[in-house]
Amino acid sequence: MSHPLLRPATTADVQALLGFWLEAGENDSRPADSADAVRRQLERDPEALVVAELDGRIVGSVIAGWDGWRAHVYRLAVHPDARRRGLGRLLLEHVEARFTALGATRVDAMVLEGNALGQAIWAAAGYAPQDDWRRWVKPLR
Ligand SMILES: CC(C)(COP(=O)(O)OP(=O)(O)OC[C@H]1O[C@@H](n2cnc3c(N)ncnc32)[C@H](O)[C@@H]1OP(=O)(O)O)[C@@H](O)C(=O)NCCC(=O)NCCS
Repeated sequence: MSHPLLRPATTADVQALLGFWLEAGENDSRPADSADAVRRQLERDPEALVVAELDGRIVGSVIAGWDGWRAHVYRLAVHPDARRRGLGRLLLEHVEARFTALGATRVDAMVLEGNALGQAIWAAAGYAPQDDWRRWVKPLR
């Protein structure tokens, strides 16, 4: 594999990203992605959504969400053809460096209980599950 380029996503990537996530992302037990949501996110924090590009194609993604209080990683995904070559780890190192530069002292991610691949990379990168917390959610209209 030649070297992937990591860069912030732009609005020109939105459709490609939606297709990429359908194929490569963790998609169970969550609302579907939408172009509007991705555009809103890019507008709010243009540096947060990072893609890995190889030969002009998106092969990896991650969102480093930072609101000044919490550092939250989501939409970490690597294309099935590009997995197990260190790209997921590279994306995580990139977002952790960004969070550190912004002043964050802790980073978290949501991982589905049944997602063995997800759990493998978080564990390898030094993350551990919290047993004494559960996420409480309420849909907003
Ligand atoms: C999880 C995911 C992003 C990993 O991407 P990747 O580029 O293959 O990961 P890396 O090659 O950087 O792997 C880093 C480490 O994670 C662990 N790991 C990754 N894939 C693994 C696998 N299939 N089996 C066991 N360990 C694995 C290993 O410890 C690996 O280090 P090593 O290769 O030196 O042993 C990718 O599998 C993916 O997109 N999965 C579907 C989406 C998803 O579940 N995302 C996470 C949401 S919480």
